[in-house]
Amino acid sequence: MRSAGTRRHRPRERERHVETQPGGFGPPRDERELAAVADIVMHSYAMSPADSAAWLQRTKPAADLRVLREGAEVAGSLVLIRMGQWFGGRSVPVIGVGSVGVSPVHRGRGTATRLMQHLLREARASGAPLSVLYPATQPLYRRVGYEHAGTRHEIRVQVPSLDFGERTLALRPIEAADLPAIVLSYQRHARHRTGWLDRGDFAWARVQNMRGEVAHGYLVEGKDGVEGYLYVIRRALKDLKQELFLTDVVAHTPAAARRILRFLGDHRSLATEVFWYGGVDDPLLLLLREQTYSVKLHMHWMVRVLDVAAALEARGWPEGLSGALHLEVEDDLFPENQGRYVLEVSDGQAEVRRGGDGRLRLHVRELAPLYTGLLRADALRAMGALEADDASVRAAGALFAGPPPSLRDMF
Ligand SMILES: CC(C)(COP(=O)(O)OP(=O)(O)OC[C@H]1O[C@@H](n2cnc3c(N)ncnc32)[C@H](O)[C@@H]1OP(=O)(O)O)[C@@H](O)C(=O)NCCC(=O)NCCS
Repeated sequence: MRSAGTRRHRPRERERHVETQPGGFGPPRDERELAAVADIVMHSYAMSPADSAAWLQRTKPAADLRVLREGAEVAGSLVLIRMGQWFGGRSVPVIGVGSVGVSPVHRGRGTATRLMQHLLREARASGAPLSVLYPATQPLYRRVGYEHAGTRHEIRVQVPSLDFGERTLALRPIEAADLPAIVLSYQRHARHRTGWLDRGDFAWARVQNMRGEVAHGYLVEGKDGVEGYLYVIRRALKDLKQELFLTDVVAHTPAAARRILRFLGDHRSLATEVFWYGGVDDPLLLLLREQTYSVKLHMHWMVRVLDVAAALEARGWPEGLSGALHLEVEDDLFPENQGRYVLEVSDGQAEVRRGGDGRLRLHVRELAPLYTGLLRADALRAMGALEADDASVRAAGALFAGPPPSLRDMF
Protein backbone atom coordinates (compact mmCIF):
# COMPACT_ATOMS: atom_id res chain seq x y z
CA MET A 1 0.00 0.00 0.00
CA ARG A 2 1.28 3.45 -0.84
CA SER A 3 1.84 5.83 2.05
CA ALA A 4 -0.53 8.77 2.49
CA GLY A 5 2.01 11.18 1.03
CA THR A 6 2.26 9.39 -2.29
CA ARG A 7 -1.39 8.52 -2.78
CA ARG A 8 -2.61 9.35 -6.20
CA HIS A 9 -6.18 9.86 -5.03
CA ARG A 10 -5.91 12.20 -2.12
CA PRO A 11 -9.02 12.95 -0.08
CA ARG A 12 -10.33 16.27 -1.45
CA GLU A 13 -11.06 17.65 1.99
CA ARG A 14 -8.55 18.11 4.73
CA GLU A 15 -8.62 15.59 7.56
CA ARG A 16 -9.89 16.58 10.97
CA HIS A 17 -9.38 15.10 14.38
CA VAL A 18 -12.12 12.64 14.97
CA GLU A 19 -11.75 11.85 18.65
CA THR A 20 -14.45 12.82 21.05
CA GLN A 21 -15.24 11.92 24.64
CA PRO A 22 -15.97 8.20 25.11
CA GLY A 23 -19.73 7.87 25.29
CA GLY A 24 -20.10 11.16 23.42
CA PHE A 25 -22.04 9.53 20.59
CA GLY A 26 -25.14 7.40 20.90
CA PRO A 27 -28.92 7.39 21.27
CA PRO A 28 -30.46 10.15 23.42
CA ARG A 29 -30.24 8.97 27.05
CA ASP A 30 -33.25 10.68 28.58
CA GLU A 31 -36.05 13.21 28.13
CA ARG A 32 -33.61 16.10 28.51
CA GLU A 33 -31.53 14.86 25.56
CA LEU A 34 -34.67 14.20 23.49
CA ALA A 35 -35.72 17.80 24.16
CA ALA A 36 -32.24 18.92 23.04
CA VAL A 37 -32.69 17.01 19.74
CA ALA A 38 -36.08 18.69 19.18
CA ASP A 39 -34.41 22.04 19.87
CA ILE A 40 -31.56 21.39 17.38
CA VAL A 41 -34.04 20.29 14.71
CA MET A 42 -36.21 23.35 15.38
CA HIS A 43 -33.26 25.74 14.88
CA SER A 44 -31.66 23.79 12.03
CA TYR A 45 -34.81 23.49 9.91
CA ALA A 46 -36.55 26.74 10.92
CA MET A 47 -39.49 24.92 12.54
CA SER A 48 -41.93 26.15 15.16
CA PRO A 49 -41.63 24.51 18.62
CA ALA A 50 -44.92 22.68 17.94
CA ASP A 51 -43.66 21.36 14.57
CA SER A 52 -40.36 20.13 16.01
CA ALA A 53 -42.22 18.38 18.88
CA ALA A 54 -44.51 16.72 16.29
CA TRP A 55 -41.44 15.76 14.22
CA LEU A 56 -39.95 14.03 17.26
CA GLN A 57 -43.18 12.13 17.95
CA ARG A 58 -43.35 10.93 14.32
CA THR A 59 -39.65 10.09 14.03
CA LYS A 60 -38.97 8.32 17.34
CA PRO A 61 -40.96 5.15 16.62
CA ALA A 62 -39.82 4.70 12.99
CA ALA A 63 -36.08 5.48 13.04
CA ASP A 64 -33.10 5.75 15.41
CA LEU A 65 -31.92 9.06 16.84
CA ARG A 66 -28.26 9.67 17.51
CA VAL A 67 -26.61 12.55 19.34
CA LEU A 68 -23.07 13.83 19.73
CA ARG A 69 -22.32 15.40 23.09
CA GLU A 70 -19.80 18.08 23.91
CA GLY A 71 -19.28 17.62 27.66
CA ALA A 72 -22.75 17.36 29.19
CA GLU A 73 -24.47 19.13 26.30
CA VAL A 74 -25.98 17.68 23.12
CA ALA A 75 -24.18 19.52 20.29
CA GLY A 76 -25.50 17.69 17.23
CA SER A 77 -28.00 15.04 16.21
CA LEU A 78 -29.20 12.99 13.27
CA VAL A 79 -31.66 10.29 12.31
CA LEU A 80 -30.48 6.84 11.23
CA ILE A 81 -32.90 4.97 8.96
CA ARG A 82 -32.49 1.25 8.25
CA MET A 83 -33.83 0.31 4.83
CA GLY A 84 -32.76 -1.09 1.47
CA GLN A 85 -31.99 0.29 -1.98
CA TRP A 86 -32.59 -1.66 -5.18
CA PHE A 87 -29.57 -2.18 -7.40
CA GLY A 88 -29.70 -4.66 -10.27
CA GLY A 89 -33.00 -6.08 -8.97
CA ARG A 90 -31.64 -6.87 -5.48
CA SER A 91 -32.27 -4.97 -2.26
CA VAL A 92 -28.97 -3.82 -0.73
CA PRO A 93 -29.18 -2.94 3.00
CA VAL A 94 -28.48 0.78 3.47
CA ILE A 95 -28.34 3.19 6.37
CA GLY A 96 -30.18 6.37 5.43
CA VAL A 97 -29.12 9.52 7.25
CA GLY A 98 -31.51 12.41 7.75
CA SER A 99 -32.14 15.56 9.79
CA VAL A 100 -28.44 16.20 10.45
CA GLY A 101 -28.19 19.27 12.64
CA VAL A 102 -25.71 21.03 14.89
CA SER A 103 -26.80 23.49 17.56
CA PRO A 104 -26.12 27.00 16.20
CA VAL A 105 -23.73 27.76 19.08
CA HIS A 106 -21.60 24.68 18.32
CA ARG A 107 -21.22 25.17 14.57
CA GLY A 108 -17.97 25.66 12.67
CA ARG A 109 -15.89 23.48 14.99
CA GLY A 110 -16.06 20.13 13.28
CA THR A 111 -19.05 18.81 15.25
CA ALA A 112 -20.98 17.64 12.16
CA THR A 113 -17.84 16.00 10.77
CA ARG A 114 -17.33 14.03 14.01
CA LEU A 115 -21.03 13.18 14.19
CA MET A 116 -20.88 11.71 10.67
CA GLN A 117 -17.68 9.77 11.39
CA HIS A 118 -19.29 8.13 14.42
CA LEU A 119 -22.43 7.40 12.44
CA LEU A 120 -20.43 5.75 9.65
CA ARG A 121 -18.56 3.53 12.10
CA GLU A 122 -21.82 2.39 13.64
CA ALA A 123 -23.38 1.87 10.19
CA ARG A 124 -20.48 -0.27 8.98
CA ALA A 125 -20.43 -2.29 12.20
CA SER A 126 -24.15 -2.99 11.72
CA GLY A 127 -23.32 -4.82 8.48
CA ALA A 128 -24.95 -2.42 5.98
CA PRO A 129 -22.63 -2.07 2.95
CA LEU A 130 -23.95 1.39 1.94
CA SER A 131 -25.15 4.65 3.43
CA VAL A 132 -27.31 7.19 1.58
CA LEU A 133 -28.34 10.81 2.21
CA TYR A 134 -29.50 14.05 0.68
CA PRO A 135 -26.90 16.78 1.26
CA ALA A 136 -27.70 20.36 2.20
CA THR A 137 -23.96 20.99 1.86
CA GLN A 138 -21.61 18.67 -0.02
CA PRO A 139 -18.10 19.29 1.39
CA LEU A 140 -19.14 17.95 4.81
CA TYR A 141 -20.27 14.62 3.35
CA ARG A 142 -17.54 14.33 0.73
CA ARG A 143 -15.01 14.67 3.53
CA VAL A 144 -16.31 11.43 5.08
CA GLY A 145 -16.57 9.53 1.78
CA TYR A 146 -19.99 10.24 0.24
CA GLU A 147 -20.32 11.19 -3.43
CA HIS A 148 -23.12 11.85 -5.95
CA ALA A 149 -24.89 8.58 -6.68
CA GLY A 150 -28.24 9.41 -8.25
CA THR A 151 -30.91 12.03 -8.77
CA ARG A 152 -34.35 12.99 -7.54
CA HIS A 153 -36.37 14.81 -10.16
CA GLU A 154 -39.55 16.79 -9.70
CA ILE A 155 -42.12 15.88 -12.35
CA ARG A 156 -44.83 18.53 -12.76
CA VAL A 157 -47.82 18.05 -15.07
CA GLN A 158 -50.58 20.49 -16.02
CA VAL A 159 -53.79 18.95 -14.73
CA PRO A 160 -56.06 20.17 -17.58
CA SER A 161 -53.92 18.17 -20.02
CA LEU A 162 -54.92 14.92 -18.27
CA ASP A 163 -57.99 14.40 -20.47
CA PHE A 164 -58.10 10.61 -20.50
CA GLY A 165 -61.40 8.79 -21.05
CA GLU A 166 -60.37 5.69 -19.08
CA ARG A 167 -62.80 4.76 -16.32
CA THR A 168 -63.20 1.03 -16.87
CA LEU A 169 -61.09 0.01 -13.87
CA ALA A 170 -62.46 0.57 -10.37
CA LEU A 171 -60.68 3.16 -8.23
CA ARG A 172 -61.40 3.41 -4.52
CA PRO A 173 -59.85 4.77 -1.30
CA ILE A 174 -57.11 2.61 0.23
CA GLU A 175 -58.13 0.97 3.52
CA ALA A 176 -55.91 -0.41 6.27
CA ALA A 177 -56.54 -3.98 5.06
CA ASP A 178 -55.11 -3.06 1.62
CA LEU A 179 -51.68 -2.07 2.95
CA PRO A 180 -49.92 -5.44 2.49
CA ALA A 181 -51.03 -5.49 -1.19
CA ILE A 182 -49.91 -1.86 -1.61
CA VAL A 183 -46.45 -2.71 -0.22
CA LEU A 184 -46.16 -5.64 -2.65
CA SER A 185 -47.29 -3.43 -5.53
CA TYR A 186 -44.64 -0.83 -4.67
CA GLN A 187 -41.91 -3.47 -4.37
CA ARG A 188 -42.84 -4.94 -7.75
CA HIS A 189 -42.50 -1.46 -9.27
CA ALA A 190 -39.40 -0.31 -7.36
CA ARG A 191 -37.33 -3.49 -7.66
CA HIS A 192 -36.26 -2.67 -11.20
CA ARG A 193 -35.80 1.05 -10.66
CA THR A 194 -32.14 1.56 -9.78
CA GLY A 195 -31.66 3.23 -6.42
CA TRP A 196 -35.29 3.20 -5.29
CA LEU A 197 -35.90 2.46 -1.65
CA ASP A 198 -36.85 -0.91 -0.29
CA ARG A 199 -38.93 1.03 2.20
CA GLY A 200 -39.09 0.42 5.93
CA ASP A 201 -41.50 1.95 8.45
CA PHE A 202 -39.93 5.40 8.21
CA ALA A 203 -40.34 5.76 4.44
CA TRP A 204 -43.85 4.26 4.43
CA ALA A 205 -44.96 6.61 7.20
CA ARG A 206 -43.86 9.54 5.05
CA VAL A 207 -45.83 8.32 2.05
CA GLN A 208 -48.95 8.57 4.22
CA ASN A 209 -48.01 11.65 6.22
CA MET A 210 -45.47 14.05 4.73
CA ARG A 211 -44.26 16.33 7.53
CA GLY A 212 -47.73 16.58 9.07
CA GLU A 213 -49.68 16.75 5.77
CA VAL A 214 -51.97 13.73 5.39
CA ALA A 215 -51.89 11.99 1.99
CA HIS A 216 -55.07 10.24 0.81
CA GLY A 217 -54.55 6.88 -0.85
CA TYR A 218 -56.51 5.42 -3.79
CA LEU A 219 -56.04 2.12 -5.51
CA VAL A 220 -56.97 0.78 -8.91
CA GLU A 221 -58.22 -2.79 -9.04
CA GLY A 222 -58.46 -5.19 -11.95
CA LYS A 223 -59.51 -8.80 -11.97
CA ASP A 224 -56.10 -9.89 -10.64
CA GLY A 225 -55.97 -7.40 -7.76
CA VAL A 226 -54.05 -4.15 -7.36
CA GLU A 227 -52.95 -2.74 -10.73
CA GLY A 228 -51.85 0.62 -9.37
CA TYR A 229 -52.28 3.16 -6.60
CA LEU A 230 -51.51 6.71 -5.60
CA TYR A 231 -51.26 8.85 -2.47
CA VAL A 232 -52.24 12.48 -2.93
CA ILE A 233 -51.95 15.63 -0.81
CA ARG A 234 -54.27 18.40 -2.03
CA ARG A 235 -52.69 21.77 -1.27
CA ALA A 236 -54.76 24.95 -1.34
CA LEU A 237 -53.38 27.83 -3.41
CA LYS A 238 -54.74 31.38 -3.85
CA ASP A 239 -58.34 31.90 -5.08
CA LEU A 240 -59.47 28.34 -4.29
CA LYS A 241 -56.94 26.89 -6.73
CA GLN A 242 -55.11 23.70 -5.71
CA GLU A 243 -51.97 21.78 -6.51
CA LEU A 244 -51.75 18.03 -6.09
CA PHE A 245 -48.66 16.41 -4.59
CA LEU A 246 -48.37 12.66 -5.10
CA THR A 247 -46.23 11.16 -2.34
CA ASP A 248 -46.39 7.92 -4.34
CA VAL A 249 -47.83 6.72 -7.63
CA VAL A 250 -47.49 3.27 -9.22
CA ALA A 251 -49.15 1.70 -12.26
CA HIS A 252 -48.46 -1.83 -13.52
CA THR A 253 -50.78 -1.81 -16.56
CA PRO A 254 -51.67 0.76 -19.22
CA ALA A 255 -55.31 0.71 -18.08
CA ALA A 256 -54.28 1.47 -14.49
CA ALA A 257 -51.95 4.27 -15.63
CA ARG A 258 -54.76 5.85 -17.70
CA ARG A 259 -57.24 5.43 -14.83
CA ILE A 260 -54.84 7.20 -12.42
CA LEU A 261 -54.21 10.03 -14.90
CA ARG A 262 -57.99 10.31 -15.46
CA PHE A 263 -58.53 10.49 -11.69
CA LEU A 264 -56.02 13.35 -11.46
CA GLY A 265 -57.67 15.03 -14.48
CA ASP A 266 -60.98 14.87 -12.60
CA HIS A 267 -59.49 17.50 -10.25
CA ARG A 268 -59.06 20.03 -13.10
CA SER A 269 -61.83 22.47 -12.13
CA LEU A 270 -59.60 23.74 -9.29
CA ALA A 271 -56.26 21.89 -9.49
CA THR A 272 -53.73 23.49 -11.81
CA GLU A 273 -50.73 21.21 -11.46
CA VAL A 274 -49.87 17.78 -10.12
CA PHE A 275 -46.33 16.90 -9.13
CA TRP A 276 -44.42 13.91 -7.84
CA TYR A 277 -40.78 12.81 -7.63
CA GLY A 278 -38.77 10.15 -9.41
CA GLY A 279 -36.35 9.71 -12.27
CA VAL A 280 -36.01 11.39 -15.66
CA ASP A 281 -37.34 8.12 -17.09
CA ASP A 282 -40.82 8.23 -15.52
CA PRO A 283 -42.98 5.92 -17.64
CA LEU A 284 -46.27 7.81 -16.98
CA LEU A 285 -45.03 10.66 -19.20
CA LEU A 286 -45.13 8.31 -22.19
CA LEU A 287 -48.94 8.42 -22.08
CA LEU A 288 -49.29 12.21 -22.33
CA ARG A 289 -50.33 13.60 -25.71
CA GLU A 290 -48.09 16.69 -25.51
CA GLN A 291 -45.19 17.82 -23.34
CA THR A 292 -47.45 19.52 -20.84
CA TYR A 293 -44.96 18.77 -18.08
CA SER A 294 -41.56 19.73 -16.75
CA VAL A 295 -38.93 17.42 -15.29
CA LYS A 296 -36.53 19.32 -13.08
CA LEU A 297 -33.59 18.15 -10.97
CA HIS A 298 -34.54 18.49 -7.32
CA MET A 299 -31.30 17.13 -5.84
CA HIS A 300 -28.47 14.68 -6.25
CA TRP A 301 -28.39 12.10 -3.47
CA MET A 302 -25.07 10.80 -2.18
CA VAL A 303 -23.87 7.32 -1.25
CA ARG A 304 -21.00 6.19 0.98
CA VAL A 305 -19.70 2.69 0.30
CA LEU A 306 -19.13 1.31 3.80
CA ASP A 307 -17.90 -2.16 2.85
CA VAL A 308 -16.50 -2.48 -0.67
CA ALA A 309 -16.64 -6.27 -1.05
CA ALA A 310 -20.06 -6.65 0.62
CA ALA A 311 -21.54 -3.83 -1.49
CA LEU A 312 -20.33 -5.37 -4.76
CA GLU A 313 -21.62 -8.82 -3.80
CA ALA A 314 -24.99 -7.62 -2.47
CA ARG A 315 -26.24 -5.94 -5.65
CA GLY A 316 -27.58 -7.65 -8.75
CA TRP A 317 -25.68 -7.50 -12.05
CA PRO A 318 -26.81 -7.58 -15.68
CA GLU A 319 -28.06 -11.06 -16.65
CA GLY A 320 -26.12 -12.80 -19.39
CA LEU A 321 -23.02 -10.71 -18.87
CA SER A 322 -19.75 -11.93 -17.46
CA GLY A 323 -16.50 -10.16 -16.84
CA ALA A 324 -13.82 -9.27 -14.34
CA LEU A 325 -12.43 -6.03 -13.00
CA HIS A 326 -9.28 -5.43 -10.96
CA LEU A 327 -9.86 -2.58 -8.51
CA GLU A 328 -7.69 -0.68 -6.07
CA VAL A 329 -9.61 1.34 -3.51
CA GLU A 330 -8.49 4.04 -1.10
CA ASP A 331 -10.41 4.80 2.06
CA ASP A 332 -9.04 7.10 4.76
CA LEU A 333 -11.86 6.38 7.26
CA PHE A 334 -12.02 2.57 6.94
CA PRO A 335 -8.57 1.03 6.39
CA GLU A 336 -10.42 -2.32 6.11
CA ASN A 337 -11.61 -1.19 2.68
CA GLN A 338 -8.18 -0.18 1.41
CA GLY A 339 -6.40 -2.22 -1.20
CA ARG A 340 -6.94 -4.47 -4.19
CA TYR A 341 -9.95 -6.51 -5.23
CA VAL A 342 -10.92 -8.75 -8.12
CA LEU A 343 -14.60 -8.44 -9.02
CA GLU A 344 -15.93 -11.34 -11.06
CA VAL A 345 -19.43 -11.11 -12.47
CA SER A 346 -21.45 -13.89 -14.05
CA ASP A 347 -25.13 -15.01 -14.11
CA GLY A 348 -26.27 -11.74 -12.54
CA GLN A 349 -24.07 -12.23 -9.46
CA ALA A 350 -20.66 -11.08 -8.29
CA GLU A 351 -17.85 -12.72 -6.40
CA VAL A 352 -15.19 -10.53 -4.88
CA ARG A 353 -11.79 -11.60 -3.66
CA ARG A 354 -8.74 -9.73 -2.45
CA GLY A 355 -5.74 -9.33 -4.74
CA GLY A 356 -5.32 -8.74 -8.45
CA ASP A 357 -3.47 -6.02 -10.35
CA GLY A 358 -5.46 -2.96 -9.21
CA ARG A 359 -5.83 -1.72 -12.78
CA LEU A 360 -8.75 0.58 -11.95
CA ARG A 361 -7.76 2.82 -9.06
CA LEU A 362 -10.13 5.13 -7.22
CA HIS A 363 -11.06 6.61 -3.86
CA VAL A 364 -14.01 4.95 -2.12
CA ARG A 365 -15.91 8.21 -2.66
CA GLU A 366 -15.82 7.84 -6.42
CA LEU A 367 -16.86 4.21 -6.20
CA ALA A 368 -20.37 5.51 -5.34
CA PRO A 369 -21.31 6.99 -8.77
CA LEU A 370 -19.63 4.04 -10.52
CA TYR A 371 -21.51 1.50 -8.36
CA THR A 372 -24.95 3.03 -8.91
CA GLY A 373 -24.35 3.71 -12.61
CA LEU A 374 -24.77 7.48 -12.26
CA LEU A 375 -21.44 8.09 -14.00
CA ARG A 376 -19.57 5.80 -16.34
CA ALA A 377 -15.92 4.93 -15.79
CA ASP A 378 -14.84 6.96 -18.85
CA ALA A 379 -16.63 10.06 -17.51
CA LEU A 380 -15.09 9.56 -14.06
CA ARG A 381 -11.65 9.15 -15.63
CA ALA A 382 -12.14 12.34 -17.65
CA MET A 383 -12.84 14.20 -14.38
CA GLY A 384 -9.73 12.76 -12.71
CA ALA A 385 -11.90 10.69 -10.36
CA LEU A 386 -10.26 7.39 -11.28
CA GLU A 387 -7.22 6.06 -13.05
CA ALA A 388 -7.44 3.04 -15.33
CA ASP A 389 -6.33 1.56 -18.65
CA ASP A 390 -8.79 1.57 -21.57
CA ALA A 391 -9.67 -2.12 -21.24
CA SER A 392 -10.65 -1.69 -17.56
CA VAL A 393 -12.71 1.41 -18.41
CA ARG A 394 -14.58 -0.57 -21.10
CA ALA A 395 -15.15 -3.52 -18.74
CA ALA A 396 -16.41 -1.23 -15.98
CA GLY A 397 -18.66 0.55 -18.51
CA ALA A 398 -20.34 -2.73 -19.43
CA LEU A 399 -20.61 -4.17 -15.91
CA PHE A 400 -21.98 -1.08 -14.15
CA ALA A 401 -24.31 -0.03 -16.98
CA GLY A 402 -27.98 0.32 -16.02
CA PRO A 403 -30.95 2.66 -15.93
CA PRO A 404 -30.28 6.12 -14.44
CA PRO A 405 -30.32 5.81 -10.64
CA SER A 406 -33.10 7.82 -9.02
CA LEU A 407 -35.15 8.13 -5.86
CA ARG A 408 -38.73 9.08 -5.16
CA ASP A 409 -38.56 9.31 -1.36
CA MET A 410 -37.06 12.14 0.68
CA PHE A 411 -35.69 11.46 4.18
C1 LIG B 1 -24.47 21.97 8.11
C2 LIG B 1 -24.16 21.80 9.59
C3 LIG B 1 -24.67 20.45 10.07
C4 LIG B 1 -22.65 21.87 9.76
O1 LIG B 1 -22.30 21.69 11.13
P1 LIG B 1 -20.83 22.10 11.67
O2 LIG B 1 -20.61 21.38 12.95
O3 LIG B 1 -20.70 23.54 11.68
O4 LIG B 1 -19.94 21.45 10.52
P2 LIG B 1 -18.37 21.22 10.55
O5 LIG B 1 -17.74 22.22 11.48
O6 LIG B 1 -18.09 19.78 10.81
O7 LIG B 1 -18.00 21.60 9.05
C5 LIG B 1 -17.89 20.66 8.07
C6 LIG B 1 -18.00 21.30 6.69
O8 LIG B 1 -19.37 21.49 6.41
C7 LIG B 1 -19.49 22.67 5.60
N1 LIG B 1 -20.35 23.60 6.34
C8 LIG B 1 -20.35 23.83 7.66
N2 LIG B 1 -21.31 24.72 7.97
C9 LIG B 1 -21.90 25.05 6.83
C10 LIG B 1 -22.96 25.92 6.51
N3 LIG B 1 -23.62 26.59 7.45
N4 LIG B 1 -23.30 26.04 5.21
C11 LIG B 1 -22.67 25.35 4.25
N5 LIG B 1 -21.66 24.51 4.50
C12 LIG B 1 -21.29 24.35 5.78
C13 LIG B 1 -18.14 23.26 5.41
O9 LIG B 1 -17.61 22.79 4.19
C14 LIG B 1 -17.37 22.68 6.57
O10 LIG B 1 -16.04 22.52 6.29
P3 LIG B 1 -14.99 23.75 6.39
O11 LIG B 1 -15.29 24.44 7.68
O12 LIG B 1 -13.68 23.08 6.34
O13 LIG B 1 -15.29 24.59 5.20
C15 LIG B 1 -24.79 22.93 10.46
O14 LIG B 1 -24.42 24.18 9.91
C16 LIG B 1 -26.31 22.86 10.53
O15 LIG B 1 -26.87 22.21 11.41
N6 LIG B 1 -26.99 23.56 9.58
C17 LIG B 1 -28.45 23.56 9.49
C18 LIG B 1 -29.03 22.21 9.11
C19 LIG B 1 -28.38 21.59 7.89
O16 LIG B 1 -28.14 22.23 6.88
N7 LIG B 1 -28.11 20.27 7.99
C20 LIG B 1 -27.54 19.49 6.92
C21 LIG B 1 -28.63 18.70 6.33
S1 LIG B 1 -28.06 17.57 5.10
